[in-house]
Amino acid sequence: MKTQQLGAHPATASDLLPFATRDLTMTSQLINGVELSKTLRQTLQARIQSLTERGQTPGLAVILLGDHPASQVYVRNKVAACEQVGIHSLLEKYPDTLSETELLLNIKALNEDPKIHGILVQLPLPAHIDAQRVIEAISPSKDVDGFHISSAGALMTGTKGFWPCTPYGCMKMLESIHYDLKGKHAVVIGRSNIVGKPMAMMLLQKNATVTICHSHTKNLADLTRQADLIVAAVGIRNVLTKDMVKPGAVVLDVGMNRDELGKLCGDVDFAGVSEVSSYITPVPGGVGPMTITMLLHNTVLAAEQLN
Ligand code: GUN
Repeated sequence: MKTQQLGAHPATASDLLPFATRDLTMTSQLINGVELSKTLRQTLQARIQSLTERGQTPGLAVILLGDHPASQVYVRNKVAACEQVGIHSLLEKYPDTLSETELLLNIKALNEDPKIHGILVQLPLPAHIDAQRVIEAISPSKDVDGFHISSAGALMTGTKGFWPCTPYGCMKMLESIHYDLKGKHAVVIGRSNIVGKPMAMMLLQKNATVTICHSHTKNLADLTRQADLIVAAVGIRNVLTKDMVKPGAVVLDVGMNRDELGKLCGDVDFAGVSEVSSYITPVPGGVGPMTITMLLHNTVLAAEQLN
C-alpha cells in the first residue's frame, strides 16, 4: 500500500497532524501507532532518566504462565519495550501447572519489592486459576494494567487511578488527530473488561454519547451507521465492513486476528472501510504499539507517584 507522510500535499487542516498518513489511493488517513508511540516514548525516556538519576529507575514485573504462543509474543514485546526506554523489567515465567496459591505468593512478594513499581500478569490464565482473584491481589498502586477493581472504580467515577492500556492508547490516538469527542456518537463493538467497558467510560468522560454493542446486539449495522466514531474490539475479523460505516467516521481497530494466509489483521475490513472513513488505524502498526506505550506510561507514573 502506498502511503505518504502528510505535508507533501497542498496544506489542509489535517496536514498539520504529524501522526496521520494519507494513502494516495483512498480517502481515509491512517493514524500511525508506531510513529505516535515513538514520540510518546521519547517523552517518557526523559522522565525515566530523571527518575534513574535519583536512583529510582521504574521497574515492571511481568508474569507469564504457560506457553500460549500469542501471550509469549506480547510479553516479549513488553519486556523489549521496557529495555528500549530504560525501564527495569523482571520477567517471571512459570509452567501452566503453577498453583493459584503460589501465584498469589509471588504477587505478594512483588507488591513488597521496592524495585518494582508495576505488576502485570499476562492474561488469559489457565482455567484452574481465578483471574479476578489474581488481579485483586496486585497492589492498586502497582496495577499498571488498570484491571484492579479499584482502578476500574476510579475510571468509572473519574477519580485518580491507572487506565487500562489499550483503550488509553485509543484515546491518545484520538488526541493526536485533535478529535473533539464532545457530543459525538461513539459506538464501541465489544464489552470486555480489558477494552470495551473502559473504552466506553473514557469516551463518556470526554462527553461523547456512547453505545456499547456485543454478541446480543440487534441490528449492529444500524447502530454503527449512526456513529461518528467506531471502536472495533471484539476479536472477529471483518466485523465492520464498508456498508456499516457513515462516510467521514473515524475507525479504531483493536482486533488482533489472522487471515486465511496467517497474516495479522484486525476486526475491520480495512480495504473497504478505509474508502469511507476519515481516519482509520491499521493492523499491524495501529493500536498494538500504543497498548505497550501506555503500559510504559503507567509504569513511569507508578514510579513517580511512589517517589
Ligand atoms: N492479554 C491481552 N491483553 C492484555 C493486556 O493488556 N494485559 C494483560 N495483562 N494481559 C493481556
